[in-house]
Amino acid sequence: MKTYRIGVIGLGQRIAHVLAAMKDVGWDLRVAGYADPAPIGLPILEAAGIDPGRAFADEADLLGAGPFDLVMIGSPNHLHLPHLLAAFGAGYPIFAEKPIVRTPQESHQLAAILANGQTPPLHIGLVMRSMPIVREVIARVDSGALGQVISIDATEHLPAEHGGYLARNWRRRQDWGGSYLLDKVCHDFDIFSRIVGARAERVASFGGRRIFTPERAVEPRVYEDGSQAFVMADPGWAGSNDAFQSDMDVTDHQVALVEYANGVRLSFHSNTLSGLQERRWYIAGTKATLIADLVRNRLMIRGALDRGRPERIDYGGRTEDNHNGADQAMALDLLAALEGRAPFPVTAQDSLEAGLTVMAIDQAMAEGRLVECGPIWAVYDAASGAAR
Ligand SMILES: NC(=O)c1ccc[n+]([C@@H]2O[C@H](COP(=O)([O-])OP(=O)(O)OC[C@H]3O[C@@H](n4cnc5c(N)ncnc54)[C@H](O)[C@@H]3O)[C@@H](O)[C@H]2O)c1
Repeated sequence: MKTYRIGVIGLGQRIAHVLAAMKDVGWDLRVAGYADPAPIGLPILEAAGIDPGRAFADEADLLGAGPFDLVMIGSPNHLHLPHLLAAFGAGYPIFAEKPIVRTPQESHQLAAILANGQTPPLHIGLVMRSMPIVREVIARVDSGALGQVISIDATEHLPAEHGGYLARNWRRRQDWGGSYLLDKVCHDFDIFSRIVGARAERVASFGGRRIFTPERAVEPRVYEDGSQAFVMADPGWAGSNDAFQSDMDVTDHQVALVEYANGVRLSFHSNTLSGLQERRWYIAGTKATLIADLVRNRLMIRGALDRGRPERIDYGGRTEDNHNGADQAMALDLLAALEGRAPFPVTAQDSLEAGLTVMAIDQAMAEGRLVECGPIWAVYDAASGAAR
């Protein structure tokens, strides 16, 4: 097996965890160096026994020190496009974190560049696509076991500490993160489109900030056991000290309704201060109903006319980070893709479409109206050459 020489742009917590997972599953890798003004992922790499290599001044300096077998991009979301453009110029295979980009304009620009077919291989870290439970959900839908999918109800409810981290990290600002839903659940909306087999046709959404507000700053900030709440993780680059008194401008809870072009209807509910953590998809078809509990890593399915017990699959392997082994599964998928043994489970175009769906939802919320997505797809298709 060859040794992969890797360059990292944005050595944050995420890329450090992905590198650790790659090592876990047997990648032979050497990190040649990184470009990052405040590399918060260094202790994670150290704990994983991975040498971070040289610190470069910036991405141009790093990319000039090629050749690389892989360039990994883990910077805040507003830097994804410039970092992708720099990496395209260097021509080495790329793994970049989600969301692929942050705005409709960036999506169109990238779609046009990708349509030219001159870019190196680009794999996006929509890690849920690699999870065995998600693969099974997709396989059941594809096999027709559910019949025709009629409607979906989905949730993502975060525990207090996770919500507090989002309110202090760069994700709290639209300029950096895009939006709460874009950063957190572009994964889910990617898979919903895959399951439904159609694009969103119209969307509505309500959301706002009623949790991490200055008015609530006086609420007790200790857990039942006396430990401090909302301070655990280092907020990192451009971080804020206080979850309740920051310059946050993204939502901390949001609901959305989506009607897909083939008539499937979906509701989504997300909250960042939950005593009952949940990430769950309830998929109702004409033949059967499926519940995927992504936190407990359990799947349940039962025929609509069955009278016996539901079929249950427990995937086990639950981990503290709630990724439940997904990073390791994605690391194997990435190696297989780079070695030409199998396509990566999600394309850059899928990632762009998932992002645009969530951006339409955020637009509906911001403008207080139903957004018809037809014009959004028309612009995107024109940019990506589909309508030429
Ligand atoms: N796939 C997943 O499940 C998953 C999970 C977490 C994060 N992410 C994504 O990974 C990316 C990074 O998130 P994170 O949680 O690691 O954030 P982080 O704050 O831990 O890391 C971001 C890093 O980018 C660095 N950075 C800032 N400006 C830079 C610049 N100009 N050039 C290079 N680096 C720069 C920061 O110093 C920091 O080290 C985001 O896009 C996020 O959405 C994905």
